[in-house]
Amino acid sequence: MRLDVAAAAAASTPAAGQAHLPAGQGSSVATAGGGQLQSLMADAMDTLEGRKSDKERVWNKIQKNKPWRKLKNMVHWSPCVVSFRKRYSWVQLAGHAGNFKAGEFGRILKKYCPSEQQCLERLVHDALQPYVPTYYGVAEHDGEAYIQMEDLLSGFDAPSIMDCKMGVRTYLEDELEKARQQPCPRRDMYDKMVAVDPAAPTPEEHAQCGVLKPRYMQWRETLSSTTTLGFRIEGIKKADGTCNTSFKKTRQPEQVMQVFWDFVDGNKRILTSYLERLQEMRGALEQSEFFKVHEVVGSSLLFVHDQTGLAQVWMIDFGKTVPLPEKQTLTHRLPWEEGNREDGYLWGLDNLIAILESMLGE
Ligand SMILES: Nc1ncnc2c1ncn2[C@@H]1O[C@H](COP(=O)(O)OP(=O)(O)O)[C@@H](O)[C@H]1O
Ligand SMILES: [Mg+2]
Repeated sequence: MRLDVAAAAAASTPAAGQAHLPAGQGSSVATAGGGQLQSLMADAMDTLEGRKSDKERVWNKIQKNKPWRKLKNMVHWSPCVVSFRKRYSWVQLAGHAGNFKAGEFGRILKKYCPSEQQCLERLVHDALQPYVPTYYGVAEHDGEAYIQMEDLLSGFDAPSIMDCKMGVRTYLEDELEKARQQPCPRRDMYDKMVAVDPAAPTPEEHAQCGVLKPRYMQWRETLSSTTTLGFRIEGIKKADGTCNTSFKKTRQPEQVMQVFWDFVDGNKRILTSYLERLQEMRGALEQSEFFKVHEVVGSSLLFVHDQTGLAQVWMIDFGKTVPLPEKQTLTHRLPWEEGNREDGYLWGLDNLIAILESMLGE
């Protein structure tokens, strides 16, 4: 059942989040909120040396001595930022612009965040360890602290990438509480709301050209599949250069299926690898001591595959993953009611697995 994904995407959002690059050209992409080029990994070229011609190898040696910042031929292609410098490039598909830097070969640096660092440290000895990027400690760069972690793209050849944000909400209970303490309606949030759906604000909100933050936070979650399926697709960058972050209104299982078919180019073998990996991951999540005692919010599954048939999924982004009070545990499957801190992570994963199973006729 191969459906027209372009039509679904067009129906859901304007084309602003889409960009197309010629096939075969490496690209580095930073998105979400008009991002900037985050990082290119000069050292990462080493892994690809074996596959290159002599001419390319010499060229790479020359390029390697230049700092990655001195990139030329950078093309801003809103909201994606693209470099044509070389075949291998690192891609930031979602998240906050400016959060990442190049690390040593095979590693990336993410801006230090105490809760994320603690999670990655705890995960080193947990059942989830094979499903998260390897953690290499904290490093200083230009006077700023960064978390060093495995670059999950480094083993792939021109990868296609998807970021899928898990859970029935993308804000912590504490954030909702804090938002309630801001009594002023927000103009920026009103503008964002109107841009997506001019009919969404109430007459009062229209009159004041502003919405309260908690109201905006809760409204935003109902647009995508976050509330209805317990996950949402944040962005996709395919090997052919197409980049799409316009999934804010991708809500129905059928739409999710269309997006997945397009992402894997109808390749059932890749889809099967993804499904198996997710099923294994679910088993590990059910065993994990870490998972039991943490509220996991805003964390994503990063899907990566390439033309060689290599396909893998990892859990990333633990910036909003926080320990529960002592003795409290979560099922991650119960519905969220304010106060119970349930995040719907496993419920979302169950739904995602069921969708992939039905696509494969299982
Ligand atoms: N370990 C990693 N390896 C490769 N790419 C990564 C890794 N971590 C993050 N990314 C890329 O960066 C994007 C944003 O990462 P994330 O950790 O979610 O940042 P933020 O905290 O800003 O949301 C992801 O969608 C992915 O494209
Ligand atoms: Mg993120």
